[in-house]
Amino acid sequence: MTPVEQKKAAAVRALDFVEDGMKLGIGTGSTAEEFVRVLADRVREGLSVIGVPTSERTAKLAGELGIPLTNLDDTPHLDLTIDGADEFDGALRLIKGGGGALLREKIVATASDRMIVIADASKRVATLGAFPLPIEVIPFGAVATSRRIAEVASAYDCHGRIVRRTDSYGVPFFTDSNNFIFDCAFGSIPDPDGLARELNLIPGVVETGLFIGIATAALVGTASGVDMIEAG
Ligand code: A5P
Repeated sequence: MTPVEQKKAAAVRALDFVEDGMKLGIGTGSTAEEFVRVLADRVREGLSVIGVPTSERTAKLAGELGIPLTNLDDTPHLDLTIDGADEFDGALRLIKGGGGALLREKIVATASDRMIVIADASKRVATLGAFPLPIEVIPFGAVATSRRIAEVASAYDCHGRIVRRTDSYGVPFFTDSNNFIFDCAFGSIPDPDGLARELNLIPGVVETGLFIGIATAALVGTASGVDMIEAG
C-alpha cells in the first residue's frame, strides 16, 4: 500500500473501536481527516456518536460532513480519541503538532479514556526527534522563551535550530489559541520523558508536541495491512 492507502486503512480500522453512543475526540491532520470521512459515512448509515474536534480545521470538515459536534465544556469526558501523529516510538511516545493543533489535541486526548493513533508506517521510529519538535509558546517574550528552550534542550543532549513557524510568505503562524509554534530540529531526543517534563516548566511554554503516556494504542498501515501496537 502507498502511504496514502496506509493512512486510509488505519482510519478504517479505527472504526472497529467506535461504538454506538460514544463521545469521541477527533484529531487533526491528513490521517485524522481520513478518519473523519469514514466516520461520517457511518453516521449517515445510522451510527450515533458525538465528537469534540481538536482544531477549527477538523471542526469545519466534520461539520460539513454531518458529524454531530460538541465541545469539552459541555462534554468534558470522552470515551475515545482518534488522532494522527508525526512520529511515534515503540513505547507509544509521540511527536505531534505538525499541523499546529498540539495543544487542543493534548487536552482532548487527556480528557479521553483511550487515545488511538492512526498512522502510516513512515511515522514509526526507533528514536523520536527526526521530525522537528513543535512547541507552542505565548507570543509575549517569545525570543527569551526560545533561548530558555535551547538551554533546557541542551541539558538533555538535544541540539539544533529552533525556528518560529511561518507560512511560505514568512508570515508568523498562529495556533487556534493565538500562540506561536517553535519547531525544534533536534535530530534525536534521547530522553523524551525528561525533556517534556522540563520544557513544560518554562514560563511561556504552553505545551510541547511530546505526548508521553497518553496514547493507548496505534493502528499502523503497512505495505500489507494494519498493525496494532498497544501500550505496554
Ligand atoms: C496536528 O497538529 C498533528 O499533530 C497531526 O496529528 C500530525 O501532524 C499528523 O498529521 P498527518 O496525519 O497529516 O501526518
